[in-house]
Amino acid sequence: MPDPHSIVVKGGRVVDASGEREADVVVVDGRIAAVGADLSADRTLDAAGCFVAPGLVDLHSHLREPGKEEAETVETGARGAALGGYTAILAMPNTTPAIDCEAVVRQVLDLGRAAPCDVLTSGAITVGRAGEQLAPMAEMAALGVRVFTDDGAGVQDNLLMRRAMEYAVGLGVILAQHCEDDALCGGGHMHEGEWSARLGIPGQPAEAEELMVMRDIALARLTGCRIHFQHLSTARSVAMVRDALAAGLPVTAEATPHHLTLTDAACASYDPVFKVNPPLRTPADVEAVRAGLADGTIATIATDHAPHAPETKELPFDLAPPGMLGLETALALALTELDLSVQQVLAALSWNPARILGIDDVHGAVAEGRPANLCVIDPEHTWTVSGAAMASRSTNTPYEGREVRGKVRHTVLHGEPVVVAGEAQR
Ligand code: DOR
Repeated sequence: MPDPHSIVVKGGRVVDASGEREADVVVVDGRIAAVGADLSADRTLDAAGCFVAPGLVDLHSHLREPGKEEAETVETGARGAALGGYTAILAMPNTTPAIDCEAVVRQVLDLGRAAPCDVLTSGAITVGRAGEQLAPMAEMAALGVRVFTDDGAGVQDNLLMRRAMEYAVGLGVILAQHCEDDALCGGGHMHEGEWSARLGIPGQPAEAEELMVMRDIALARLTGCRIHFQHLSTARSVAMVRDALAAGLPVTAEATPHHLTLTDAACASYDPVFKVNPPLRTPADVEAVRAGLADGTIATIATDHAPHAPETKELPFDLAPPGMLGLETALALALTELDLSVQQVLAALSWNPARILGIDDVHGAVAEGRPANLCVIDPEHTWTVSGAAMASRSTNTPYEGREVRGKVRHTVLHGEPVVVAGEAQR
């Protein structure tokens, strides 16, 4: 007799780091009870023609709460994440106020408790992300914060960054860096190159990113601190991280869907939907970021999901805020646009980021006894991207109208189906 509360994900192809096989997956009491042939349960989720994968994990989500709830909330961001196949996301700290102390960490974690995916939060490295004084990282780490970043900005001061790294080593946490030298960016609004010159939009050079990547590799060598490079976007950044890994330094890196699929030529429309930090780069940079992902230099695709309310993205290019939606399109873009196997795509979107974040005991595998955090993907389902159709409170997707292949059919969070047949259940 099937357990009355059991669920079977039936007829799919299970894929995780251990390989691929045709199998049904039975879930009981929040855990995977069995993986095998011809299994049954009280409730069936149809996975015919689908991949049954571990839930996706995003290391870079801007959820805007507290402070900019008109653009996104923890709840709407998490719902979009669940629809996109994610079972865990890491909130960025550039909220208002910043997530830079115990009270705000608690607030975000509390808001995340009812969300349809696990919401973890990063903490700021510096008070108010102002880059002047170290934030109380220990009190945030005591609440489970494992990643610290001033994302939205890089830590500019070399000595302060060294001190942050020494502090992080003692706490056993990771620092994640948004690599941009503010002075060298000089108020630029897009990549500095042929297109910025043609369009008359002030640019920021690739070197503004690369200098900070270079500095942080040097400081990782000096301090032994684990450093994660966020949204790498230039060919030389990728090359430096490749060399650092070869030298055995404790570095990891992510790339965003947009830096893997769009170039600075998109800014020719003057549409601020293409404004982002770091900016869209040249075709040669896109190729290098793709190559870095393919050879493992870049371990993960992270969304940098950055909702902005429509009235702000309707401002002129130089006045509009940077950022793009990502959680509901990352998987489909990776499957459609990148020349990678499903296994490689899921490594980048699921088990590699789960490992970096240290949650690979809860997310990132389909195996008996593990928590049931799953995403069922129909690889043949084609659909058209529409910002208005998304769960996000904002609509700023740069892929509006694009046809993509690969859609999440079901998402299961700790045993509960939170997306069924493409529909959010809560
Ligand atoms: O384009 C971006 N938008 N880059 C960032 O680093 C921050 C983000 C945001 O918060 O909107």
